[in-house]
Amino acid sequence: MDGNGRWAKARHLPRAAGHRKGMEAVRAVVRAAGDLGVEYLTLFGFSSENWKRPEDEVKDLMGLLRIYLRRDARDLHEQGVRLRIIGDRARLAPDIQAQLDEVEALTADNTALTLMIALSYGGRDELVQVARALAADVAAGKIAPEAIDEAAFSARLFTHGIPDPDLLIRTSGEQRISNFLLWQMAYTEFVFVETLWPDFDRESLSAALDVYARRERRYGAVVA
Ligand code: FPP
Repeated sequence: MDGNGRWAKARHLPRAAGHRKGMEAVRAVVRAAGDLGVEYLTLFGFSSENWKRPEDEVKDLMGLLRIYLRRDARDLHEQGVRLRIIGDRARLAPDIQAQLDEVEALTADNTALTLMIALSYGGRDELVQVARALAADVAAGKIAPEAIDEAAFSARLFTHGIPDPDLLIRTSGEQRISNFLLWQMAYTEFVFVETLWPDFDRESLSAALDVYARRERRYGAVVA
């Protein structure tokens, strides 16, 4: 969800104003995704590298997260959204962890849209966690090294049980993967748009889905 800072700068507003507008875009896009038939939506809300931002900005972002969870929990539930958080949640403040637990429990049985929000998330960090879990299981005799395959690996990712993404949309003209879902994106289609995240809306999502629909996916095979 890139471009909040630039959106604010263009309007001579503080970066926090861009993040606030970004939160409104989150609301609109979650609703639109459900309406457009998207079953899984993952938003990169805060990366493990974002902790390096100035303390005030981290505080603003965490404050917005608290507001979002408090104000939107019921709406998400009514929309049939199941919330799931991926990332190193132990690094988040205890009250945010408690809020996340609460909203995840409230929405656990919903089936219209699974909304994953990546918080304090890093793709390499996730892969290291999987390596550790597998090593521990090998050491405990629960799995033989030869039995480690892609399924055993996937089962230990934060995203276990969730299909790999079909489409990645990156906003604001950036064209990098930035440590996001590294394992899961092996065959993902990438769509890069110039739109800054706060301006990304239902039409932007729909346009990106149209671009995706015209892509031919071969997964390394030859298609006749
Ligand atoms: C990147 O834009 C954006 C972020 C690091 C934060 C994303 C947060 C939100 C959209 C707010 C609320 C989120 C949730 C999940 C409720 P940037 O700050 O790097 O912008 P720039 O590249 O223009 O500087």
